[in-house]
Amino acid sequence: MPKIKIAPSILSADLSNVNKEINEVEKYADLIHVDIMDGIFVPPITVNAEFVKTIKTKVPLDVHLMVHEPGNSYIKGFIDAGAYSVTIHEEACKDPSKQISFIKKNGIKAGISIKPNTSLDKIKKYLGIVDMVLVMTVEPGWAGQKFIEAAMPKVRELRKLKPKLDIEVDGGINPMTARTAFEAGANVFVAGTSIFSKKDRAAAIKEILKGLK
Ligand code: DX5
Ligand code: ZN
Repeated sequence: MPKIKIAPSILSADLSNVNKEINEVEKYADLIHVDIMDGIFVPPITVNAEFVKTIKTKVPLDVHLMVHEPGNSYIKGFIDAGAYSVTIHEEACKDPSKQISFIKKNGIKAGISIKPNTSLDKIKKYLGIVDMVLVMTVEPGWAGQKFIEAAMPKVRELRKLKPKLDIEVDGGINPMTARTAFEAGANVFVAGTSIFSKKDRAAAIKEILKGLK
């Protein structure tokens, strides 16, 4: 099983003070998860590459594009803004291999994500070229939703197929659901509300980590 990584999602943080918010988690975070929403693939619109550029941290930025047909120059914007990895959605791209190879060609890590109702079969052909698979455990678009346990069989199957792959779960992750996803085989845990709604963010992360052994 690859290394356990905690990725606080700044979607639930105070974005007017993002560097201060990140400062409070960076000692315990392996990645900072940045949700990009375009108002098309998902109804809300969040931040853009210009915003990502203003983030100052040594923790790698894990950019999650909930974006319809992201083109090369759009993706390049996030790479230039300092992304460590860019994850696209299978459902958002006609031919995800195009985006995946563009991301990899630029020397950073590429991920592919599937929504709770998308079958694993849809992405099996990309498993040899991606660095990470993000299995959504809520419908993308909003923080604070309930973890969908029905996504766990996909995590289990994926872990069997790819013992060394980074498998990320995102949505409704708290100490209890992180444990559930960990047992299914996930090793990268995105958490927004369960970290940033707490006054003591470090304690919130430690609480999640406790169950991941
Ligand atoms: C949802 C985003 C998530 C979101 C998770 O579409 O992809 O990253 O921030 O928030 P919580 O942890 O509150 O479910
Ligand atoms: Zn996300």
